[in-house]
Amino acid sequence: MPLRAIRYIEDHFGAFIETLKSLSRIPSISADPLAKDEMKRSAEAVRAAMVEAGLENCEVLEIPGALPYAYGEWLHAKGKPTLLLYAHHDVQPPGRPEHWKTPPFEPTLAGDGRLYARGIVDDKAGIVTHLAAVKAWLATTGSLPVNVKLIVEGEEEIGSDHLEEFLGRHKEKLAADVIVLTDTANLAAGLPSLTYRLRGICNLHIEVTALDHPLHSGMWGGPIADPVMAMAKILASLSDERGAPAICGLFDQVRPLSKREREAIAKLPFDQETFRADAGVQGGVKLVGEEGFGVYEKLWARPSVTVIALEASPIKGSSNQIVPSARARISVRLVPDMDPERTAALMVDHVKKAAPWGVRVHVEVEGSSPGWICVPEGPAFEAAKRALSRGFGREVALIGAGGSIPFVGPFAEAFGGAPALLLGLEDPICNAHSENESLNLDDWKKSMKGAVYLYEELASTAR
Ligand code: BES
Ligand code: MN
Ligand code: MN
Repeated sequence: MPLRAIRYIEDHFGAFIETLKSLSRIPSISADPLAKDEMKRSAEAVRAAMVEAGLENCEVLEIPGALPYAYGEWLHAKGKPTLLLYAHHDVQPPGRPEHWKTPPFEPTLAGDGRLYARGIVDDKAGIVTHLAAVKAWLATTGSLPVNVKLIVEGEEEIGSDHLEEFLGRHKEKLAADVIVLTDTANLAAGLPSLTYRLRGICNLHIEVTALDHPLHSGMWGGPIADPVMAMAKILASLSDERGAPAICGLFDQVRPLSKREREAIAKLPFDQETFRADAGVQGGVKLVGEEGFGVYEKLWARPSVTVIALEASPIKGSSNQIVPSARARISVRLVPDMDPERTAALMVDHVKKAAPWGVRVHVEVEGSSPGWICVPEGPAFEAAKRALSRGFGREVALIGAGGSIPFVGPFAEAFGGAPALLLGLEDPICNAHSENESLNLDDWKKSMKGAVYLYEELASTAR
């Protein structure tokens, strides 16, 4: 049944690419305190694109101290379900400039059918996917088969610190029957995927100090404790010889996979060589972690610990010194049913105990949010499966994700356990959070069609 709205996506795909490009030119880096104006400009640009798509009551929503959200709605489908559509307009910092093949904030189409820019797939394409579906329906039929409320967040990449406050303020306004996100991954290119579990996160900042000032390493080296060595010992103690987390009690609350889930995951396509190649793992480097767990289980259903930053003294300008202090940031991924506060306490305790020689250790918990899981069944999931398989011409995979989206859990809960449908856009080679981030345009078009079908499929489900 070729809907006119589907035809519209086909005919106007070029215009949607232009919208995406113009949003991607704005360096909306939420982690950069100097980018406040760009965040504002980005939220304004998203608001304008919402108006252009035909949404109503479009506005930039501000909370004191928070980065701006954009909001728009279309609520004329009487008696039909209401969808809360979500994406985020903030992006990661671009990383090492010399590693970008094209400028990060000048979206560039390459010969491989991918569009390159920072935030292009995470998550500006997610914004435009929602806008395209809305526009395609409105332009061809003058209405939508469902009610929609589109919320585009401005601080997802820095932990969504104002989520509770935002929810408190706007709960009535945002109330919905179903939540639809376009901020997760497809398991492989061309394979439409619905994500039913996310990991949570807990980040820590560690500082080790031992000296008032740097010392001549020859005059003092030997009896004097080196805080960088101390930091190295602390970090080394976070994993065991298999490369699995070695924090006492960390696994106590991990919910094991059910037999059913284990069987479903085992059926998903997986090829170790492809996985290694997609990740860019160099020859001879082993995959690590707990024995007896598959790669997907380690990624989606087991906690992990990563050193995301480490500094003591730069190589450039270094000299024969014992440096006075060292700093690191640690990121712990959590899974259901791990309690973020308990996990943070275990980490702090571990780090303090691992510090040798009486060096001073200061540990700060930067923020945390729990993992999320749902049962991917029921009318909304069935509708989404039909819609995506129509869009892609291929059966849908139900998958987990290693990444985190703090928004999902609290909002699904606030709306009485509303189903949350997480539609994939990223793919294994998209380089989200890395240099040369890119979007697979072919799959993007299929996702837009999936989103168009989704409104039709959800319209016939009960409110
Ligand atoms: N879109 C990602 C999360 C994601 C990626 C989920 C792939 C599923 C599959 C999101 O933008 C992200 O990066 N989130 C942060 C959250 C953190 C700052 C709380 C993350 O996971 O590091
Ligand atoms: Mn994202
Ligand atoms: Mn991200």
